[in-house]
Amino acid sequence: MGIWVDASGRQFQLDTGGSSYRIEALAEGYLAHWYWGPQVRARPGLDRRTLLRHRAFSPNVMVDRDDFSLDVLPQEYPSWGRGDYRLPAYQVRQANGSAVTDLHFAGYRRLQGKPYAQTGLPQLVASSDHDAETLVITLVDAVAQLEVELFYTIFTELSAVVRSARFRNRGGDSIHLERALSASVDLPSANWEWLRLTGAWGRERHIARTPLGAGLQAISSRRGASSHQANPFLALVEPGATETQGWVYAMNLVYSGNFFAGAEVDQFDTARMAIGINPSLFQWQILPGEHFITPEAVLVFSDQGLGKMSETFHRLYRRYLGPEATRTRERPIVLNNWEATYFAFDEAKLLELATVAADLGVETLVLDDGWFGDRRDDRRALGDWTVNREKLPHGLTGLAERIHAQGLGFGLWVEPEMVSVESALYRQHPDWCLAVPDRSRSEGRHQLVLDLSRVEIGDWIIGWMSEILATGAVDYIKWDMNRHMTEVGSAGLPPDRQAETAHRYMLGLYRVLDTLTTKFPHVLFEGCSGGGGRFDPGMLYYMPQTWTSDDSDAMERLTIQYGTSLVYPPVAMTAHVSAVPNHQVGRRTPMAARGWVAMSATFGYELDVTRLTAEERDQVRRQIVQYKRFRRLVQFGDFYRLLDPHRENAAAWMFVSPDRGDALVIWVNRLAEPAGPVHWLLLRGLDAARDYQVTQWSDGGEWQSLSVVGGDALMAVGLSRSYRSDFAVAAWHLAARQPDEGGSVR
Ligand code: DGJ
Repeated sequence: MGIWVDASGRQFQLDTGGSSYRIEALAEGYLAHWYWGPQVRARPGLDRRTLLRHRAFSPNVMVDRDDFSLDVLPQEYPSWGRGDYRLPAYQVRQANGSAVTDLHFAGYRRLQGKPYAQTGLPQLVASSDHDAETLVITLVDAVAQLEVELFYTIFTELSAVVRSARFRNRGGDSIHLERALSASVDLPSANWEWLRLTGAWGRERHIARTPLGAGLQAISSRRGASSHQANPFLALVEPGATETQGWVYAMNLVYSGNFFAGAEVDQFDTARMAIGINPSLFQWQILPGEHFITPEAVLVFSDQGLGKMSETFHRLYRRYLGPEATRTRERPIVLNNWEATYFAFDEAKLLELATVAADLGVETLVLDDGWFGDRRDDRRALGDWTVNREKLPHGLTGLAERIHAQGLGFGLWVEPEMVSVESALYRQHPDWCLAVPDRSRSEGRHQLVLDLSRVEIGDWIIGWMSEILATGAVDYIKWDMNRHMTEVGSAGLPPDRQAETAHRYMLGLYRVLDTLTTKFPHVLFEGCSGGGGRFDPGMLYYMPQTWTSDDSDAMERLTIQYGTSLVYPPVAMTAHVSAVPNHQVGRRTPMAARGWVAMSATFGYELDVTRLTAEERDQVRRQIVQYKRFRRLVQFGDFYRLLDPHRENAAAWMFVSPDRGDALVIWVNRLAEPAGPVHWLLLRGLDAARDYQVTQWSDGGEWQSLSVVGGDALMAVGLSRSYRSDFAVAAWHLAARQPDEGGSVR
């Protein structure tokens, strides 16, 4: 890992994890992007100057030359209005009404580590100064009196660059940011496929991949949340690239609100990819002397296909994102009462669930929606965060004591960002929600969104949440958010700053989360937004795991978890075994399939355990023993995708321990096929030189020892199994053998 700067102080190369990223401050003042790809030796003279040539209808910014148009120059942070007609990275409206800007190189700094800046935004945090290096390049527009600092951080061994930009108003008048993306990269060709994660409520993060064509292609959110419908992620992929081969350029935004992630192919077949806050719903006034900082974008390059891309994201996020205390802490197995009882519970029912759960080996009981105010259904009471004594006569602390006495942790659901129209809070503070003058307020799930851009409302949340958490009764919080924003306006802002509301909301939410997670570091937070509607690195910074989807059906989860794994590690996904017929799709899948799919992530249950048959209880007990045995491997091992359920009638994946001594392979089929193909799973991530004892899981729950197989054969020949029923499952455990152990080797 290293940041190389040439003797003139104008050429920069970031080398890490086998890749290089090359920038040059040209003599003309512009900051050119020359290269991002497999590592090359850092030497002066690497450039793509041949792109600079006279082109019709591409005006030249240097009036005495006809070969210097910004329209053809690959740039680090492209401006608007000086001849580059492609997607700008930023736009600033100045006091005189002009939105034309022109940034020139003014200097650079090289910093050890990743200096933690009090930005109020979620971010990757290096554990020590030896883990990371940062390059800061300063650009200045003397006319607009604007300074922009571009931040680039690289981390040891990981082919990634973390970027952000800070705008400073150096003039005497206010300026308005109308666009401030976090990163933009110009690639010299356009022959790519663009890959994104898309979906809907209950169908989050399915993979879509199509050829990149002329013009702009983008995925974005305007919903006030990163959303179920889109994820702040984009990759340009070499056509035909697989899990193991091909070049991949990926971007992921550390942000949970409105975003834009797009690529534009221009007239000369080059591609510009960019990511950041969605400009269509954003504006920010910067007063003289003040600054604005963008969220961070994580840029990953892989020359070994999508698998390597995911491995880089997973390692980055496991090491550098999220509360320090939880990064290596094993996550508990929970029972969540939502699908078990919905709103119809009382203390006796919860204790009954807890008693059975504890006996089965569950570690935490999470009490979901319905414990407060008059919350008998989803039409009322959000905002009235006092315990409902009819349901819970001993209060939360009394209930928690009884649950703790069973040896279980106690988790609690909250939805602090919302208010029901039918609530005491709304009657008292009808002006506390997002709204615009003279228009009615659209409702979603009978609720409105509290205006978290206002500090006093954030403080109110911190106040009541702190009271609950300070009792020490709660070990786990599930933080939900069940509608998207409409009429986005704030009573706390003047008319000319209304367009700042959406981003100010996010900053307000982040402040609340920062305060609570810092004050109560022992509490494990799970994010949720009607399932996985806010599954993004922004949320994972505060809440290291997210309820992946409200669709708990094992077959639906194959695609959802597979797609999610493209960017996010399995430890960040919560997955629960639920009842059959499944509550979302009505499907009946066997306990084994439900178990193995949920065990492929941070595990739990979401059903009435008191109604399980004796045989089912036995299965659950065995699943829990199994998960405890493999938990470290699943939560902290490397993850490899083997079969894609978007294309196949099955999904398969595997986990490998960091020392490659231990691996778990899981394969789940959908429907049985007559005369179907026999799939061979070519394993990955093993040590080719070592031998592994292969043990196969059988439906009866037993593990059966098979042969000892070489790591090379497991990766080249693979494993297979025949099956004859719908929803069949296979699982293998591989344990590397010590050199002196005997046994037959295939
Ligand atoms: C949506 C969540 O995704 C569910 O798990 C549950 O917590 C409900 N909200 C409760 O209202």
